[in-house]
Amino acid sequence: MKSTILIVDDEPSARETLISMLEGQGYLLKSASNGKEALKMARHLLPDLILLDVMMPEMDGFEVCKRIRTIPKLAEVPILILTALNEPMWLVQGIEAGADDFLTKPISRQELLARVQTITRLNRYRTLLTQREDLRNMAMQVVSAQEDERKRLSRELHDDLGQALTMQLLTLRNLQGAFSTPNSALYDRLEKLHKDTKEIYTNIHRLVKDLRPPALETLNLETALQSYCTEFTHSTGLEIIFEADNDLPVFSDIYQITLYRVLQESLTNIIKHTQAKKSWVELSIEKDKINLTIQDNGKGFEYDQTQEKGIGLKGIKERLTLIGGKLYINSSENQGTILVAELLLEETLTTREN
Ligand SMILES: Nc1ncnc2c1ncn2[C@@H]1O[C@H](COP(=O)(O)OP(=O)(O)OP(=O)(O)O)[C@@H](O)[C@H]1O
Ligand SMILES: [Mg+2]
Repeated sequence: MKSTILIVDDEPSARETLISMLEGQGYLLKSASNGKEALKMARHLLPDLILLDVMMPEMDGFEVCKRIRTIPKLAEVPILILTALNEPMWLVQGIEAGADDFLTKPISRQELLARVQTITRLNRYRTLLTQREDLRNMAMQVVSAQEDERKRLSRELHDDLGQALTMQLLTLRNLQGAFSTPNSALYDRLEKLHKDTKEIYTNIHRLVKDLRPPALETLNLETALQSYCTEFTHSTGLEIIFEADNDLPVFSDIYQITLYRVLQESLTNIIKHTQAKKSWVELSIEKDKINLTIQDNGKGFEYDQTQEKGIGLKGIKERLTLIGGKLYINSSENQGTILVAELLLEETLTTREN
């Protein structure tokens, strides 16, 4: 596979010189004439190497370099800075911006080829990207296998046990009618049996819903989350203010179920551990991230990762990590708690039509 090199220089003659020096060496050469264009192309091309001029109008090479390093999938791409400035101060600035190496102008063809070859031959960056992608795919498969299993269990419980218990409830009612009179000892025993069976039935139904939230089968994520909040308020009395950005994209199944679980656990924690009267839930997009924020005005807690007591928070952190997300908790005694689940947006994007 050919290595892709992105050449970034505002001067057409400088770009042409570099291209002519590298031509015929088996590289795929692409060029950009300013920082903005370079960022756009880099995202799209995922080049194996970027040759970056420093002195460019609007966005200089250092700034481009810094911005590239903030884009997760480009954070490791090798960047060779091309500069006429041989001052140590500039070198330091380049290193701080995240450059890997420097070439001083005027550039000699031999030196350029030697450096480029070393970097592209090692191809450390490409290997890293592939490994990361493989790991991610494996993690996704694990999570979706778990969800499939939950779905299967949920169906079995519903169709099998649920139906059997419904029959049992009917039979008990029939027995009451056919063999006993109201207020007799047998009638009361059958009544108690009916009540207990009903309770088991309700528990199983709750389990079925928990295993595979039916809302996610029919509604989009924001509506499913909102409807969960409404039900939660209804059954617990906790006031929840729900907000979601307009025109959210459709998220993958894994993203949906993960964020749904985060909401379930967080709201349950609020009820279990705080005396909060109010809670705020927000689903929003910021730059290339999707955030689900759950805030309460309860008593707060010292969140010490090493001393997690239950498995709830640990569980949602693991779920998020598996799909490349993060969990942030900001809480301190008597200050309430803000929990943010963050996922990378680009991995989730599909259109509403799909
Ligand atoms: N919103 C919150 N406000 C105050 N304390 C909280 C909040 N969320 C979590 N906690 C504290 O963090 C601890 C860990 O929460 P976690 O959800 O991991 O476990 P749990 O709720 O105790 O048990 P479970 O395993 O059933 O979830 C809780 O025991 C509680 O002390
Ligand atoms: Mg919990």
